[in-house]
Amino acid sequence: MDSATAFAPASVSNVASGFDIMGFALDGPGDTVTVRLTRTPGFTITKITGTTAALPFEPDLNTAGAPVIALFRHAGTSFGAEIEIRKGLPLGSGIGSSAASAIAAAFAANAALGAGLTGEELLPFAIEGEKIASGAVHVDNLSPSLLGGFVLVRGYGPIDLVKIPPPDDLWCTIVRPHIEIRTKESRQALPKQVPLKDVVTQTGNAAGLIAGLLTSDYALIGRSLHDVIAEPARGPMIPGFQAMKEAAMRAGALGCSISGSGPSVFALSRGKKTAEGASDAMSAALDAIGCAHSRSVSLISPVGARLCSGETA
Ligand code: HSE
Repeated sequence: MDSATAFAPASVSNVASGFDIMGFALDGPGDTVTVRLTRTPGFTITKITGTTAALPFEPDLNTAGAPVIALFRHAGTSFGAEIEIRKGLPLGSGIGSSAASAIAAAFAANAALGAGLTGEELLPFAIEGEKIASGAVHVDNLSPSLLGGFVLVRGYGPIDLVKIPPPDDLWCTIVRPHIEIRTKESRQALPKQVPLKDVVTQTGNAAGLIAGLLTSDYALIGRSLHDVIAEPARGPMIPGFQAMKEAAMRAGALGCSISGSGPSVFALSRGKKTAEGASDAMSAALDAIGCAHSRSVSLISPVGARLCSGETA
């Protein structure tokens, strides 16, 4: 194969109580990347479509370019590559846009080269792309975008991923205020130290969330969707955040918090109808303050990145 195209879905990371250690894939849009082998060495980004924001065409500064370069170097090939990127996700939106590009790029590069790496073996290459966007190594968007479903990052040294199948009737509402928040800046707002009582609260909720997901105990999932570490610091950066959260809870959502580093806000609900009600209520809260936004309701995607046959980005 001298060319391959791959798609990787959007994702919600942190999931309230799982800061940097939990994420899930969304059943909806994502990013698509084509990698085409060239006989001459070197890397070129030939096309970026689907985004209004300027993205760098220098491959080593681009979240899709860096994973391709890293993987080709690892493979020791003399080939170069042309890279095409179709952004289905807005930048700086908190639904794993940079992660989706990095994963799709690593996936496509692996297939184009016939390198034969497994999904989890591709993660270190995708991290090279995510680092450009966030300035830190965290894989809570990359992992669900790669593997699908819920993913727990049990540890970072070495990375230890645990895939958790989502309960059947768990729906996700996403409301995205039309502002951009860069992960790098949003991470700077985080506390450098956390009081022991907050660690106890967060750990209990993270464990409760996992137990709730594994046993399809929706009430336990709801009780566990609380974030005492990132949300207090980041909530004020998102217009109408508290109002959206209260509106979602009144509409019957199990829980509501910031998607990744924001500005998107997610709510989890049992059943599509409740998720749509939460979406209407959250949207009304933003309308009340005149904040333009987009919204969607979807299931959790059980599958992550995949090859797209006969397609290019
Ligand atoms: N866990 C990361 C953060 C995700 O909250 O900074 C960034 O999307």
